[in-house]
Amino acid sequence: MSDHLHDELTKEREAEILAAEREVYYPPAEVVAAAHVKDYQSLYEQAVNDLEGFWAERAQELEWYAPWEKVLDESKAPFYQWFVGAKTNIVHNALDRHLKTWRRNKLALIWEGENGEHRTLSYFALGREVNKFANVLKSMGVRKGDRVTIYMGRIPELIIAMLATAKIGAIHSVVYGGFSTEALADRIEDARSKVLVTADGGWLRGKTVNLKDIADEAVRRSGYVEHVLVVKRTGQPVNMQTSRDFWLHDLLALPIASQKCDTEVMDAEDPLFILYTSGTTGRPKGVLHTHGGYQVYVSTTLKWVFDIKDEDRYWCAADPGWITGHSYIVYGPLILGATSFMYEGGPDYPFPNRWWQMIEKYGITVLYTAPTAIRGLMRYGESWPNRYDLSSLRLLGSVGEPINPEAWRWYYRVIGKERCPIMDTWWQTETGGFMISPLPITPLKPGSATRPLPGIVADVVDEEGNSCKPNEDGYLVIKRPWPGMLRTVYGDPDRYVQQYWSKFGHKGWYLAGDSARRDEDGYIWVIGRIDDVIKVAGYRLGTAEIESALVSHPAVAEAAVIGVPDEIKGHAIHAFCIPRAGVPLPTEEELKQHVRKEMGPIAVPARIEFVSVLPKTRSGKIMRRVLRARALGQPEGDLSTLEA
Ligand code: WTA
Repeated sequence: MSDHLHDELTKEREAEILAAEREVYYPPAEVVAAAHVKDYQSLYEQAVNDLEGFWAERAQELEWYAPWEKVLDESKAPFYQWFVGAKTNIVHNALDRHLKTWRRNKLALIWEGENGEHRTLSYFALGREVNKFANVLKSMGVRKGDRVTIYMGRIPELIIAMLATAKIGAIHSVVYGGFSTEALADRIEDARSKVLVTADGGWLRGKTVNLKDIADEAVRRSGYVEHVLVVKRTGQPVNMQTSRDFWLHDLLALPIASQKCDTEVMDAEDPLFILYTSGTTGRPKGVLHTHGGYQVYVSTTLKWVFDIKDEDRYWCAADPGWITGHSYIVYGPLILGATSFMYEGGPDYPFPNRWWQMIEKYGITVLYTAPTAIRGLMRYGESWPNRYDLSSLRLLGSVGEPINPEAWRWYYRVIGKERCPIMDTWWQTETGGFMISPLPITPLKPGSATRPLPGIVADVVDEEGNSCKPNEDGYLVIKRPWPGMLRTVYGDPDRYVQQYWSKFGHKGWYLAGDSARRDEDGYIWVIGRIDDVIKVAGYRLGTAEIESALVSHPAVAEAAVIGVPDEIKGHAIHAFCIPRAGVPLPTEEELKQHVRKEMGPIAVPARIEFVSVLPKTRSGKIMRRVLRARALGQPEGDLSTLEA
């Protein structure tokens, strides 16, 4: 099967995994004693024996306007439906219901700007700001089912905009603030958003990012957008187009922005958001999640895995513009009534002590981040974290790509002081929430996401669908539906079926697109993607999008990109381009600037090589395996299917 696998296990990585398989870390007794889930096995079995009853019990912990008639409807599989017939709105559970309790005075959000500014919002204050924002959106003509694109940095208004959109029954599509013109334009166009919410600029590593300029160009290219709502963050000069663009603070001062706003009653299966992510081919897919199942799934999984308590100060250091932020900065923590911390800027700005200083300053108890950030901070040495009191921490987390055992051990020893278990959570934009993850009670092995959560039936299978033997690589599949699963690809149901269900869908299995193996203890080790997705610093990018940014330059006739191993980022992008005849050859730097402008800094290749041909199969498919071998200076293997 390894021929099909993109991220083939290197010999070093294989040796590392085999060694780490025998390295077990047991959770401290006080962590186990305090944990919400004390018995994994019985909960897991309860779900296997009665999946619907299991999820119904979890759903009952939330409030619903009207109950469901059926927990799971499989009659239109793979278009599964959850909590059919129920009436709800996720914002009711994330905000409204807390306002009836003592939690109205509890902090929902603590925020620190990169420039040291800080803001706090209680549940009451967040509820008020969301209502005012929701009324502004309504005044711009946004109605139930309309799409609102949100494009800005990590500031509280991003969260407020998401909740306000959901509150009035509209659908948000958040585009990561690190993306640029073409990426934003494509996403606006696909969602046909009539309102874009953005900011004048954002702060990143002491510099401002021209968000409004990028937004203007994207709006021009995509059509559709009728109004642009602009948050003032940096105060930099921007162009405001009369009657199209409005400052948020101007509208909030008007009587239309009342602090009362009813929450729209939604069907459980009504869309909540679209989040674009990269897949095998072509343009990014709009993964669609709905109100009912998603709220049950994100709150349950967050409660189990990070064991959220009222006294926690929880920090998920992701960006709200990605699924990790949607589920575990915004919706999950708010539904649980937790206090979250959010930081605007870069982890080492102005110095590599920034994160550790904030953990001490705010008394953070749970830190959830990505391997790339850990490796990046590890590079500066342990004297930086050692100068701070990190004793408030009780749990750590990792997400986005496999964590290499070396980074795991550093995180565990230097940050967690060998008393904070690390929750290595495997999941995807499509899954809505954690799928394979330890609980605080689980014995850990560095680099393994351990076992599927209760309610999730995961397996590693071969080409024919047979379960693989221990330590044999195979396809990671999910064999039963779960409430947080994506419902479709927005506007393209065929693509949903094709992408996730064409291989094993006849058996009712979801294909994750990752390869994995299971060890003799049943622990799962995720290896990596088997499709054209590259994980760069934890960000999910598609080769097709980067290639199309490259060929949009007049001097590039054809392009192919691959991921090559990178010590800090996990993977770095390596591009091969065929120059267009008769057009002067640009420098590598010019081409990089072009990708930065179209797609954003995260998509810029580390290397661009000019070549005269690209290796292709007879059917015209680029042989990335050959390119990868070439980039790594390895033998190129069997080239017999190469184009003549
Ligand atoms: C990878 C991020 C190993 C995997 C939440 C998956 C991981 C893709 C882990 C989804 C992990 C995520 N261990 N690999 N703990 N978490 N991945 O949609 O390849 O941005 O398919 O969702 O990230 O990326 P996405």
